[in-house]
Amino acid sequence: MGHVSDATSTDDQHFDLVVIGGGPGGYAAALYGASAGLNIALVEKDKIGGTCLHRGCIPAKELLETAAIVRTVKHAGDFGVIVEPKSVDWGITMARKQAVIDKLAGGVTTLLKNRKVTLFSGNGSLGPDRVVTIVGDDGETATVTGDAVLLASGSLPRIIPGFEPDGTTVVTSDEFFHLTQIPRRAVVIGGGAIGCEFASTLADLGSSVTILEALPKILPGCDDDVTRVVLQSFKKKGIEIRAGVAVTGHTPMDGGGTTVAFGDGETLETDLVVVSVGRVPFSEGVVSDGTGVTISERGHIEVDELCRTGEPSVWAVGDAIATPQLAHIAFAEGMLIIKDLLGESPAAIDYSRVPWAIYCHPEVAFAGHSEASAKEAGFEVVVSKHRFAGNSRAQILGETDGLVKIIAEKRADGNGGRVLGVHMVGPWVTEQLSGGYLAVNWEATVDEIAEYIQPHPSLSELFGESVIAMTGRSLHG
Ligand code: NAI
Repeated sequence: MGHVSDATSTDDQHFDLVVIGGGPGGYAAALYGASAGLNIALVEKDKIGGTCLHRGCIPAKELLETAAIVRTVKHAGDFGVIVEPKSVDWGITMARKQAVIDKLAGGVTTLLKNRKVTLFSGNGSLGPDRVVTIVGDDGETATVTGDAVLLASGSLPRIIPGFEPDGTTVVTSDEFFHLTQIPRRAVVIGGGAIGCEFASTLADLGSSVTILEALPKILPGCDDDVTRVVLQSFKKKGIEIRAGVAVTGHTPMDGGGTTVAFGDGETLETDLVVVSVGRVPFSEGVVSDGTGVTISERGHIEVDELCRTGEPSVWAVGDAIATPQLAHIAFAEGMLIIKDLLGESPAAIDYSRVPWAIYCHPEVAFAGHSEASAKEAGFEVVVSKHRFAGNSRAQILGETDGLVKIIAEKRADGNGGRVLGVHMVGPWVTEQLSGGYLAVNWEATVDEIAEYIQPHPSLSELFGESVIAMTGRSLHG
């Protein structure tokens, strides 16, 4: 960085839309808006791509793929393929991860430039009258204005006092992707999506892993049957899970590593502590005085159901607002605000039915009600559960842990009616959810979906068969 703008001409500093933040929310709005003919400025203080691309989704899944290759090699003998010796060259692993990030980051930047989005490097801050002040690394300042402004400033890892990251022994997701070696022992604090993905990666790479979770169970929000499968599979990998325990501090050991104190005076020696206890919205300094934008006590930029802030023609999207912290939600919100800005009266996003995807091994994917939440909401339900153990493709892959669970409204005849939720755990379920997601959001009934054919042999047959089983008849299950 250095110069504030890469615009060929900085004479015209007024835009249809000024976006602050170049992560998935900001760049999706910029790309989508530019494709609709809007003249857009995008202000980013770090790198285009944000947390998702540089410190989140992409590197996490890239390292999970290395873990998957390790598993494949470990089980290659089962298929008659003899691979010896087995070892991981961490340098190559990290270089590949970086190459994937760089390629994707380059791709997004090129797309933005091709669509004539003007990129500004620096810290953007919204003032009154939609004036955005940009301060570069070197102190250089620029001022731009927009008919509309989008705040997409993202989030930061939440830190627990006493567990401030040092980059080597105590890390958050910000530092995890720069580890210089695979730790022999790791303690993961927090068993949410990030914690489970990191625990799964490390265990497959050979670390001895313990998850310390404050709540009574890991993966809050997941259906109980799904969580049970993850627990069993994690146990097979040797991951120890201690739920319902609070961490109280840690004491670095001479010669490296640290001793983590938790629960009722228990301790655990480890080489690495990964803190994954949620993310906090980043909104500090993004808005200066004199606007109608309000920030909640927890730091979220406050918006209505169409992501509008309290200031006319100023929207906010992504992790900075109090909606699910998922890149695909930020994409959806980014596109939504463009439609709103263009006066197209878009429908608000129904956050209770968005797709969730957790890429630990086994993968988890779901949309809509879990069995418990459907009952809590007052639905009388029928449930269909089918295990991958009976699925031919899963047996061919040697990946039989997992299930598909469908929750539907109970009809008067006892069969399934409208599909309320689809929950999956097992091989490649993040790639299989789309049919279930459409079913839930299209408010399809079991009878309607049962008409459709799934390829054979395929993992997605399990979804089809689980649906058929709710019609009162069944095939294999
Ligand atoms: P999270 O909120 O999903 O989970 C954090 C976990 O830490 C919770 O189970 C919580 O009970 C526990 N916790 C909180 N304080 C604790 C303490 N002091 N000691 C022990 N446990 C404690 O947050 P996470 O996993 O950090 O992810 C952040 C956000 O990013 C979430 O919204 C998540 O959905 C999203 N994300 C989604 C991914 C995906 O869908 N594949 C991947 C990564 C992140």
